Amino acid sequence: MHSNDDTTPRRDFLKTAALGSAALVAGAPAVLRGAAPIELPALPWAEGALEPVISARTISFHYGKHHRGYVDKLNQLLVGSPLAELPLEEVVRRTAGKLDQAALFNNAAQIWNHSFYWSSLKPKGGGAPTGALLKHIEADLGGVEACLKELTAAATGQFGSGWAWLVMDGGKLKVTKTGNAETALTSAAIPLLTIDVWEHAYYLDFQNRRADYVAALLKDLLHWDFAAQNLEKVRS
Ligand code: FE2
Repeated sequence: MHSNDDTTPRRDFLKTAALGSAALVAGAPAVLRGAAPIELPALPWAEGALEPVISARTISFHYGKHHRGYVDKLNQLLVGSPLAELPLEEVVRRTAGKLDQAALFNNAAQIWNHSFYWSSLKPKGGGAPTGALLKHIEADLGGVEACLKELTAAATGQFGSGWAWLVMDGGKLKVTKTGNAETALTSAAIPLLTIDVWEHAYYLDFQNRRADYVAALLKDLLHWDFAAQNLEKVRS
């Protein structure tokens, strides 16, 4: 499937070597990967940078084993697949809701979700958003405190594994949640940030206390600027 024929749609797209944070911004141009395998994007910070909320040990397993595992598995599944040259986001979109492609979807979506999650966190994060994002939060969700309450409810209320999301949906901010590998990327909404509530995200540090993990993450790690950057792409 790795033709270099100029008649392929590949020429219409900018090629990229890896999916970095910039490519995660909603609305970024789609790219074809050519013959290159899906790559595990680098973390946007050092493994210990989120301590004391999330330990380096958690990140080493979460990123080095779980995230990397999804990448390795997807590359195995893509061998000989008609989806082999598509960018990751397209693999996610084209396999969503198709039972016979569940393994492809689950691994591709988990890769995308995790990359988006890393970018949704930063050392010394938290606080409050500013600018257009703050205005939307005030107008659509009733203010920062109410927004954090909704994110908390979504993250702690998700039964079993999944994700909590802040999204832009029909011109308004909303808080949503998805189960397992399901992703806001395949909904009508545009994801702005996410919180991983799979147990592997917090069990080493918080054991079963998901609510404590969520509270600490929202207070000290949430990367509002990443959400603002995604919002700007929607608005422009
Ligand atoms: Fe995870």
